[in-house]
Amino acid sequence: MMDDTGANRNLLPREALPGVLVCPDAAEVARAAARRFVDWAWQAIARDGKFQVALSGGSTPREMYRLLATQEFRTQIDWARVHLFWGDERAVPPEHADSNYGLARRELLLRVAIPPDNVHRMEAEVTPIGRAAHSYETVLRQSLELDDRGFPVFHLVLLGLGADGHTASLFPGARLLRETSRWVSTPTMDKLGTRRMTLTLPVIEAAKRILFLVTDSQKAAMLRVVLCGRADRQLPAQMAQPRNGERIFLVDEAAARLLPAGAPAVAAPPENPKKHK
Ligand code: 6PG
Repeated sequence: MMDDTGANRNLLPREALPGVLVCPDAAEVARAAARRFVDWAWQAIARDGKFQVALSGGSTPREMYRLLATQEFRTQIDWARVHLFWGDERAVPPEHADSNYGLARRELLLRVAIPPDNVHRMEAEVTPIGRAAHSYETVLRQSLELDDRGFPVFHLVLLGLGADGHTASLFPGARLLRETSRWVSTPTMDKLGTRRMTLTLPVIEAAKRILFLVTDSQKAAMLRVVLCGRADRQLPAQMAQPRNGERIFLVDEAAARLLPAGAPAVAAPPENPKKHK
């Protein structure tokens, strides 16, 4: 079925590289991400009785959050068993336009039946921010299982990609990229003179699954570097690899324009409306 943008909606994302799934556009990236959120929630809840997710900031996940709040998706998820955390946060109050929590609250949390106790935001506006980071480590310690190295294990960590290769608030060249013990850190954004709160790499690496959402042609050059570039020049988005888990990139054709062609798209199996009802 061709839609008004001429994109064929019945096509499964094409696999440009192992674990790199390319959708026609940003709307399809959001839809493919929402479908996978539902599937992974069912798997985790069936296995562990809960689904623990670290949400991403930035603008790219907005459409996915919006879709998850629609009748079509929200009715397929047992929100009482979903626990939401954040991968990073800006040092602003929750109602501030730049708040990652604020974005998720507006687009998702206010529209689904998730118990308030299941929502664990990073209080990055609190000063001293170091103490707030410590409190968040305590929240993680009380909520999550630990892996064999003693790091908390999320079922899913959602990440974005900055044009400079940053992810969460892990920026190229930052000393914090060599962090080996702390779970949460508070880097200073030199350019902006502001602070952030972020999960550290060992925590991201401990995740069962990492999902990168990357859209827009402006990200194409960096996506190629992250996926095909020299492995020795370690960019944060290159370093964000699960130790014993799966890493998936859901990207649109615009962001994938500089990637090797890879496998062509194939027809999607017909939707089974009774799938999770
Ligand atoms: C943040 C994010 C950051 C983001 C990238 C991509 O708080 O800004 O966590 O890592 O994911 O900067 O941002 P966009 O999705 O807005 O392009």
